[in-house]
Amino acid sequence: MRTDSPQTIYRKDYTPPSFLVDSVELGFDLDPARTVVASRIHMRHNPASTSRSIELHGEHIELVQVRLNGKLLKPSQYKLTAGMLTIPKAPDDVLLEIETVLAPQDNTSLSGLYVSNHNFFTQCEAEGFRRITFFPDRPDVMARYTVMLRADKDKYPVLLSNGNLIEEGDLGDGRHYAKWEDPFKKPSYLFALVAARLVCQEEHYRLKSGREVLLQVWVEEGNLDKTDYAMQSLKNSIRWDEERFGLELDLDRFMIVAVGDFNMGAMENKGLNIFNTKYVLANSRVATDVDYAGIEAVVGHEYFHNWTGNRVTCRDWFQLSLKEGLTVFRDQEFSADMIGTDTGRAVTRIDQVRTLRQAQFPEDAGPMAHPVRPDSFVEINNFYTVTIYEKGAEVVRMYQTLVGRDGFRKGMDLYFARHDGQAVQCDDFRAAMADANGRDFSQFERWYSQAGTPVVTASTRYDAASQTFELTLAQSCPATPGQPKKLPFHIPVTVGLLAADGRDLPLHVDGVASNGATSVVLELTEASQTFRFTQVGEVPVPSLLRDFSAPVVLEYDYTDAQLLHLFRHDSDPVNRWEAGQRLAMERLLKLTGAVAAGEPLVLDETFIAAQRALLADDTLDPAFRELALILPSETIIAERMAQVDPQAIHAARQFMRTTIAAALKPELLAQYHANQTPGEYSPDALSAGKRALKNLALSYLLIAPGAAELDLARLQFDNAGNMTDRAAALAALIHSGSQPHAQAALTSFYADFENEALVVDKWFAMQAAAPTTDVQAVRQLMAHPAFTLKNPNRARSLIFNFTNGNPSQFHAVDGSGYAFWAEQVIALDALNPQVAARLARSMDRWRRYVPALQSHMRDALEQVAGQASLSNDVMEVVSKALA
Ligand code: PHE
Ligand code: ZN
Repeated sequence: MRTDSPQTIYRKDYTPPSFLVDSVELGFDLDPARTVVASRIHMRHNPASTSRSIELHGEHIELVQVRLNGKLLKPSQYKLTAGMLTIPKAPDDVLLEIETVLAPQDNTSLSGLYVSNHNFFTQCEAEGFRRITFFPDRPDVMARYTVMLRADKDKYPVLLSNGNLIEEGDLGDGRHYAKWEDPFKKPSYLFALVAARLVCQEEHYRLKSGREVLLQVWVEEGNLDKTDYAMQSLKNSIRWDEERFGLELDLDRFMIVAVGDFNMGAMENKGLNIFNTKYVLANSRVATDVDYAGIEAVVGHEYFHNWTGNRVTCRDWFQLSLKEGLTVFRDQEFSADMIGTDTGRAVTRIDQVRTLRQAQFPEDAGPMAHPVRPDSFVEINNFYTVTIYEKGAEVVRMYQTLVGRDGFRKGMDLYFARHDGQAVQCDDFRAAMADANGRDFSQFERWYSQAGTPVVTASTRYDAASQTFELTLAQSCPATPGQPKKLPFHIPVTVGLLAADGRDLPLHVDGVASNGATSVVLELTEASQTFRFTQVGEVPVPSLLRDFSAPVVLEYDYTDAQLLHLFRHDSDPVNRWEAGQRLAMERLLKLTGAVAAGEPLVLDETFIAAQRALLADDTLDPAFRELALILPSETIIAERMAQVDPQAIHAARQFMRTTIAAALKPELLAQYHANQTPGEYSPDALSAGKRALKNLALSYLLIAPGAAELDLARLQFDNAGNMTDRAAALAALIHSGSQPHAQAALTSFYADFENEALVVDKWFAMQAAAPTTDVQAVRQLMAHPAFTLKNPNRARSLIFNFTNGNPSQFHAVDGSGYAFWAEQVIALDALNPQVAARLARSMDRWRRYVPALQSHMRDALEQVAGQASLSNDVMEVVSKALA
């Protein structure tokens, strides 16, 4: 057991920096074993601070020397502790010259300066810069950077950093140099360098203003045939931010660099975005429709950070959602606008709701629950969460729902007018939205300070005599760690009323400007409120929380008939989908109970008929039909149960799928054939939607396949013209239960793609998530020569997809899945604590499982917690789980 307990950092303890940095010059002599970093930091005392001590963070680096205003400091003139170099009693104006030494080749954490496939990359968010040199490594210290890179010319022909290239040349001894200057001041977390053997696709692009900029996508030599979509997405992002928000690219040069070893998706370093290869590389041979959509979203996301994150940044890491929630919202809107149609927009919205329910609601109900603006943390890297990102985006979206698109734009304009070049807080964004729109958003603050998913309970009363319909909305929010009691939130609830013929009724609501609209945004601010609709000539079916207008759980006692009515007619496609999910969920919960009780399983004809009608409804977008046919996942079902029995859930869902497949066989086959996309591959939303529906049909047809169905899948596998169809056929074969077919396809797939790392990831991932893959089989896959824990994508593909994506095997009754989890968390922690801590989160919900599983889970958690020399990252996660 470790002896030092990790330190908790509190938001309330914030103090301004004692010294500010005007400019910094960095010199790098790059060598994998011994890199020398020389810095010249021009600092001055911050009048807002009472301290005269200079505080410089530094970790895992060797201090060679430090000079203050030209004088070499003796060790007695500074204090060097774990993580901090302190120079007391400093004068007002200071030039610090510091030399440090580090070994990038030994850096397996992928934070700071590291080597990936013989090339140098950096990752500085959140606190990686301190692994490069001693510096006030906090986001409220913004400085101008000049960077000199020196390296071997043959091994590292490309030398990149932020901003503009101002000089380059030969050093004579087989080495060369490049000097970069970033004209904008920035916090250290946005610093980046790349020294590598890479090639690029580049393009001169004209901004709306007429200014021309240089765009580059840098990749390893063999990947130049996979950069088109990233480049196209970048140009689309630039155009979109100009049009929707009036925001222009502020640099003459914008670079994207792909790296195979990366902890996260991508990083918005100023002018030099560094990306996980997964979010850059694509062509139809290796990437699926989902991969293409991911690239568009992440390229957009990082580009949009240039304004929301870089020009205006965060005062401290508690404000992380200020940049992340807002930037996720912006990338969501970008993706929706790129599709352009109303259903396309709804399809992206449904995807967002699914992510929230699959990952954020469980987080908000578990031991790691935290507000969108946390009050404390041990390790900031553990707070790059679905709450900060996705719930944060929902919070931003609610402003737009409350003030409208134009009002939201006014708020954004005011935010930039006030804060360009500053490091600010979530409160500043809220104030800009309020002030620009003359609104009072003081209660809205609770979305930032209170954790937990609010529950909104609706009840209704129709009075025929007065033709009024009363809707009562009550809200509550469960307790979360450290927050036993919650105050009411300010919740926008978008509502419509459906007539018996399925059409929307014109709405008139007392006290709410609605005059005949078919949807109205009600503002729920009290614990309970009643809204009175007048001129309602018939008993309506309420469509509540349209477009998922707030990140809440909505409870209303819908009858089956009402849900079927909404499922058939709701003009809001998100609620149409939602009605189908409710119908399915009720049945899945009953079936799960029946499995556990050993009772016979039955699925009613009404539900099957609704599925049948939907499947064949050609007036609906294939993408929408596909989403509406997918049953709630095992994880989402589990969240609805007081005590989770993963085997019973799996059996219930499998029964439902099998029953649907058997009942709808002819319709499934018809849709399979009707939604082929012959001709050249295109990732556009319509084609991708057809493939999604067709491949969903295929997966149903392969649940209990005969020879004809197996042939269908094998034919698609052999002849597919793109990875979407090939991977879908392979997955269907793996899930078919026909071992010989699955094995043959797996072998040929691997042989075809063994040199494409991202495709090999898919090969591992598909096997990891198959219900036929048990712990033993995962261990065998780990012994495959292509497997390594060191590469995060590979570790995620096999290990995470097993622990998070294969519940019935991970939760094996003998506890073997948990023992495996403990082993892998410990092994990963020695290499890469950030990735290990993410894996540690797989056990978050352990207290909700049936007692037999719980005790195995506790054992595994305690085994990890009891390890000597555990990282703070993993320690925080497991100790909160056990608390
Ligand atoms: N800031 C990055 C993003 O949201 C995510 C990230 C965080 C990447 C920390 C690396 C390290 O785009
Ligand atoms: Zn981001």
